[in-house]
Amino acid sequence: MGNAYFITATGTDTGKTFVAEGLARAWRRRGRAVRALKPVMSGYSPEQASQSDAGRLLAACGEAVTQGSVAAISPWRFAAPLSPDRAAALEGRSIDFDDLVAWCRREVLRSQDAVLVEGVGGVMVPLDEHNTVREWIIALDLPVLLVAGTYLGGVSHALTAVAALREVGATPSVIAVNESVDGVGLETTLASLRPHLDNIPIFAIGRDDAPGLEGFAADILASDP
Ligand SMILES: Nc1ncnc2c1ncn2[C@@H]1O[C@H](COP(=O)(O)OP(=O)(O)O)[C@@H](O)[C@H]1O
Ligand SMILES: [Mg+2]
Repeated sequence: MGNAYFITATGTDTGKTFVAEGLARAWRRRGRAVRALKPVMSGYSPEQASQSDAGRLLAACGEAVTQGSVAAISPWRFAAPLSPDRAAALEGRSIDFDDLVAWCRREVLRSQDAVLVEGVGGVMVPLDEHNTVREWIIALDLPVLLVAGTYLGGVSHALTAVAALREVGATPSVIAVNESVDGVGLETTLASLRPHLDNIPIFAIGRDDAPGLEGFAADILASDP
């Protein structure tokens, strides 16, 4: 088994896929093989597979985007751009939580590569009536990488997400503060967040910030257990 990380966020559109793509590309440039999974994907249309999260992750890992390769890293795909519980219900389906956990465990264990598991939405998006992403994180027991934004209100969302994860012993290993469009800026966000996040390493990533992503990727590799 290679090293694996679960990538979650304070909310949707915060930059989970962007950060995962950046890590995958940077690690591959350093000679590391990387596999990325997007086990649960809503808002998916097969005609736009390459723009989907799974398609973007496959490309970042140097793999072709086909219906088959998308299905292989993203078994739970739903059309509606809703939380997975609702998107599944609209198709008369549901996510079998035990199957989801077992599938992820198997994929992580059988891989010799570094594995990035992208969650869905934020930390507490419902997967079904009993489980949210948080239960998924607990069950997988992987180091958690939390992506937060710099939009106004983002600091509270970040601290709320950290509190929710801490409550169940899943404190993030690292937080990536990823600059939002029209936000209050990285410096303001970091200055506000840092004093409240005593021991958690925080990384700042600007807009289209290739060096920032590169530094982040190098740092995570350096801190590999
Ligand atoms: N730092 C950034 N610089 C430029 N574009 C970004 C950055 N972070 C995110 N984006 C873009 O913003 C959009 C939403 O980010 P995405 O990674 O898809 O969020 P999530 O996976 O959390 O839903 C995507 O088009 C992504 O490429
Ligand atoms: Mg995404």
